[in-house]
Amino acid sequence: MKKLYIQTYGCQMNQYDSEKIAQVLARKDYVQTDRIDNADVILLNTCAIREHAEERIYGRLGALAQHKVRRPHVQIGLAGCMAQHFRDRLLDRSPHLDFVVGPDAYRRLPSLLRGDPFVDVRLDREETYADLTPARAGGVRAWITIMRGCDKFCTFCIVPYVRGRERSVPAGAVLEQVRAAVAQGHREIVFLGQTVNAYRDGETDFGALLRAADAVDGVARIRFTSPHPSDMSESAIEAMATCATVCPQLHLPVQSGSTSVLERMERGYTVEEYLRLVERLRAAVPGLALSTDIIVGFPGETEDDIEATLALMRAVRFDSAFMFRYSRRDHTKAGKWDETVSEEEKAQRLQAVIAQQERIGAEINTNLVGQEVDVLVEGPARRRAGWLAGKTPHFKTTVFPDDGSAPGDIVRVRVASSTAHTLVGG
Ligand code: SAH
Ligand code: SF4
Ligand code: F3S
Repeated sequence: MKKLYIQTYGCQMNQYDSEKIAQVLARKDYVQTDRIDNADVILLNTCAIREHAEERIYGRLGALAQHKVRRPHVQIGLAGCMAQHFRDRLLDRSPHLDFVVGPDAYRRLPSLLRGDPFVDVRLDREETYADLTPARAGGVRAWITIMRGCDKFCTFCIVPYVRGRERSVPAGAVLEQVRAAVAQGHREIVFLGQTVNAYRDGETDFGALLRAADAVDGVARIRFTSPHPSDMSESAIEAMATCATVCPQLHLPVQSGSTSVLERMERGYTVEEYLRLVERLRAAVPGLALSTDIIVGFPGETEDDIEATLALMRAVRFDSAFMFRYSRRDHTKAGKWDETVSEEEKAQRLQAVIAQQERIGAEINTNLVGQEVDVLVEGPARRRAGWLAGKTPHFKTTVFPDDGSAPGDIVRVRVASSTAHTLVGG
């Protein structure tokens, strides 16, 4: 038995891919270890979404060079989006790398480990890994990637270049994985895809898939991420409104509150269309919790544009948001444009959107004080000894004094106080 150490960067889809990689290699007698110092294979499953992500990984690779000096037999490999992004250049820049494997080539990892070839980054229009059961660690939540790739080509984004074309996992295979996850004790299912609601397998669209998963015995909660506003069909909204297990929570990336910026991002919707969609969703799912992604400092973004983004965030009142400075990416359309917003200005704009969001998030949570919420228990709270933590249906992290509940239990908790990010039970 050889030992495999995987470190995963980036999004949950990468996390899921790491589980698939572990499964591919388990068939070749590799067992996973969480100790890097006794590993025979060290694999970094990487992200290329922003420059910062790549810098972190280069730093990590530098440290691993030392590791290789101490233990020369160790094989070090790079997988995932950055592997796809830099391909052959990586072996020049990091000579201690033994292999580079792109997101559609994980099935061929065993031959890469035999040293032939070094680089396999062929993207494959068909590959969905549908037949591979991910090797999951235990836990309450199971992630299932239901579609891979992206065809949207937003002008800032590298994903279509490193993940290839959009393709859906056959519905039968998805439902099989849902049943398998439930059988393993997972209570919450999270469907993943870069444009998860663009899912389609023949007659089965995303709404139909939600309804089918909702009908699987033993599923307590279903979530999904990230839906694209342009793909939010009536069928999906209806499924959210009617399926008891589909949570009243949606991560709906808007990116900007200025229609002219959205046009240059080629997002495919205007601010008005986004707001109308939010209205329809809230009408269908009362109390819906909404979160979003925001980019500040996109090329050409003016003071008026950032004001418009701030105004949109006040109008929608998102429960939470991931907010990023624009990071120029190779290959992309916007990557060829001049940057017009200085790093300093980007930092200021980021500060402004974060400060406003913190205030709004805190206000929304304050309004929940006194109410009762159903918490799906995940385990001990990270920062409070003797407390448990879990999530509400609205995806609010909630901590409460340990009452002996086990992970996977759903307990009713009275909210005694709150912060911008957490509900505190009493
Ligand atoms: N498929 C999802 C987004 C996936 S990437 C969607 O379309 O909504 C996650 C987030 O990273 C994006 O929503 C965006 O806000 C951010 N992001 C992507 N490319 C970026 C870039 N070049 N610079 C800064 N942020 C970026
Ligand atoms: Fe990137 Fe746009 Fe695809 Fe999302 S929809 S992954 S932002 S190209
Ligand atoms: Fe990063 Fe690739 Fe995910 S670029 S965000 S790991 S799809």
